[in-house]
Amino acid sequence: MAKENTEVDAERETRTERTRAGDPTDTAPDQLISTDPGREGVAEQDDEPSGATETVIEAHGLDVYYGETRALDDVTIEIPSNRVTAMIGPSGCGKSTFLRCINRMNDLIDVARVEGDLLFDGVDVYADDVDPVALRRHVGMVFQHPNPFPKSIYDNVAYGLRVQGDTDDLDGRVEQALRRAALWEEVSDRLDDSALDLSGGQQQRLCIARAIAVDPAVILMDEPASALDPIATSKIEDLIDELAESYTVVIVTHNMQQAARISDRTAVFLTGGELVEVGPTREIFEDPEEDRVEDYITGKFG
Ligand SMILES: Nc1ncnc2c1ncn2[C@@H]1O[C@H](COP(=O)(O)OP(=O)(O)OP(=O)(O)O)[C@@H](O)[C@H]1O
Ligand SMILES: [Mg+2]
Repeated sequence: MAKENTEVDAERETRTERTRAGDPTDTAPDQLISTDPGREGVAEQDDEPSGATETVIEAHGLDVYYGETRALDDVTIEIPSNRVTAMIGPSGCGKSTFLRCINRMNDLIDVARVEGDLLFDGVDVYADDVDPVALRRHVGMVFQHPNPFPKSIYDNVAYGLRVQGDTDDLDGRVEQALRRAALWEEVSDRLDDSALDLSGGQQQRLCIARAIAVDPAVILMDEPASALDPIATSKIEDLIDELAESYTVVIVTHNMQQAARISDRTAVFLTGGELVEVGPTREIFEDPEEDRVEDYITGKFG
């Protein structure tokens, strides 16, 4: 489990305080709107006393189609902040599709169509006035295969901050992101080397450093350790555990032991894009309500 509830609650308090104090580093829903930041309807949601810090992502009746093929079928889920939520299920059941819905990466797939509601901090991420680029600053993503830019280690981490024009104390923030990604000790004397010269496990931690450098609220990870050896995998797992102190992590994994080790909550998707059960990881693995989930977890099908 990522942490004790008391620590989660303390962190949540901190985030709530920061929101109240108007800390610019925190996620304000109106920052997603590029065209009209002062929009009244969105600003009102900032004043909601509850919800924003409890549930950071929620889907209601979410369907995704690729052309005629339905990849997600009426998915409803609430994802709490500062927890690790694992998505498991057989190949093709829609795990990556769901993850890509959250930061609108499916927009890049021509035939993809999303129906239903997907909210981030209470804002409909598919509303006409939401800017997907702004959204992705709050909802970062790490992919299965490490994909550093063909640039130096430093420039990879600094990239998002430079794009935002947010270059105050760049050196310090690059160092901080590399430290949080547990990579600083290994690269501090070679920041100008090409990122492509790093090992696979180092490249993946660099991609995590790049994702957290812009201080997102949520980090989506699609099988981030499946291409790594056991030692690199264990480093990534330790890192995820630590990241959950500051971020909400949603991770897709095919490795059920990994889901059981690192997540607080687990969502089980099954063939046809159905979200069959979601709940505390221990309950899902030890005493699921659905027979189909038990069959999948015990390897009877899937
Ligand atoms: N770009 C695409 N165009 C058309 N169909 C797609 C596309 N991406 C995914 N699909 C289909 O949508 C369904 C869900 O795919 P998705 O990649 O979300 O599954 P997954 O659970 O992540 O699988 P895996 O565990 O193999 O990664 C599959 O039937 C897949 O063939
Ligand atoms: Mg996938």
